[in-house]
Amino acid sequence: MEEERLVDPTESNDDKPTENALRPKKIEDYIGQDKIKENINITVQAAQKRGEPIEHMLLYGAPGLGKTTLAHIIANEMGANIRVTSGPAIEKSGDLAAILTNLSDGDILFIDEIHRLHKTIEEILYPAMEDNVLDIIIGKGPSARTLRIDLPKISIIGATTKVSLLSAPLRDRFGVIHHLNFYEHADIEKIIKRNSGILNTSLDESSAIEIARRSRRTPRIANRLLKRVRDYCEVKSDGTINKENCFSAFEMLEVDEHGLDWIDRKILETIIDKFDGGPVGLNTIAATTGEDVSTVEDVYEPYLMQLGFIDRSPRGRIVTDIAYRHLGKKRLK
Ligand code: ADE
Repeated sequence: MEEERLVDPTESNDDKPTENALRPKKIEDYIGQDKIKENINITVQAAQKRGEPIEHMLLYGAPGLGKTTLAHIIANEMGANIRVTSGPAIEKSGDLAAILTNLSDGDILFIDEIHRLHKTIEEILYPAMEDNVLDIIIGKGPSARTLRIDLPKISIIGATTKVSLLSAPLRDRFGVIHHLNFYEHADIEKIIKRNSGILNTSLDESSAIEIARRSRRTPRIANRLLKRVRDYCEVKSDGTINKENCFSAFEMLEVDEHGLDWIDRKILETIIDKFDGGPVGLNTIAATTGEDVSTVEDVYEPYLMQLGFIDRSPRGRIVTDIAYRHLGKKRLK
């Protein structure tokens, strides 16, 4: 079985119960992404003034940054019902038709991982998004007919981690598109303080800073680390989180001060020890570390690049001086 990574930004089953409890319900309680919040406020207020549903909205950004949370907040602010589904969950065109015909005026349909919708299903969405109608094809071949059914006036909020995989016609049907960025450390710190209150855990300023530094600028990881540190402090002391027991917790959890875990370090050390720091091709890195090429490229590498620990060159990946210093290693050449 694959070992679960504590710093994996994708949602794990362990996250689900607390993620719902920690999710802010109102836009004013949502920390960070200030520009997007401002825009959403306008969108919501304008729609309310006109007495119409909001325009279809696409939210894209890395996993764990709060796309689902924002969709729920928008529904809440609009006083609308929200129906949640995802690209891979809609297997047949009939599944989507059933969802659409069961909605009411003003409802919001949230489609997570919308880039994973099948092409044939995507095509049902076009008339639904443009004209609030559902085109059903009855029969096959020359006698096939199209039956047009009116749908309620709804808004679609799509979320994706890979906007480049979305087809142009689908992307064009969203009136509003927002890109969620990684959070500032100060905002992650505020989220940790807010959520420790909801979890009834007391923590001091310096431990909030320590957890924030390791959270890869991602609220989902911050919440997960907060819970694991809380568990540690409850078992090893009276449950209060301070700098000292926070450090011990992270030592046990093997998450370093930049939020790197053993796999990140293994990748960096492999490039350093076996290939003198690079350049080395992605396929070779994957083969020597025993990971999938796509996992190295999509999951591990982005954060290491964002930290400036790895550079891309035409001849392959290179470990930077910053990473050498972080790992306490010296260049041999
Ligand atoms: N919990 C998770 N993400 C959050 C955010 N952006 N603001 C407040 N609390 C959160």
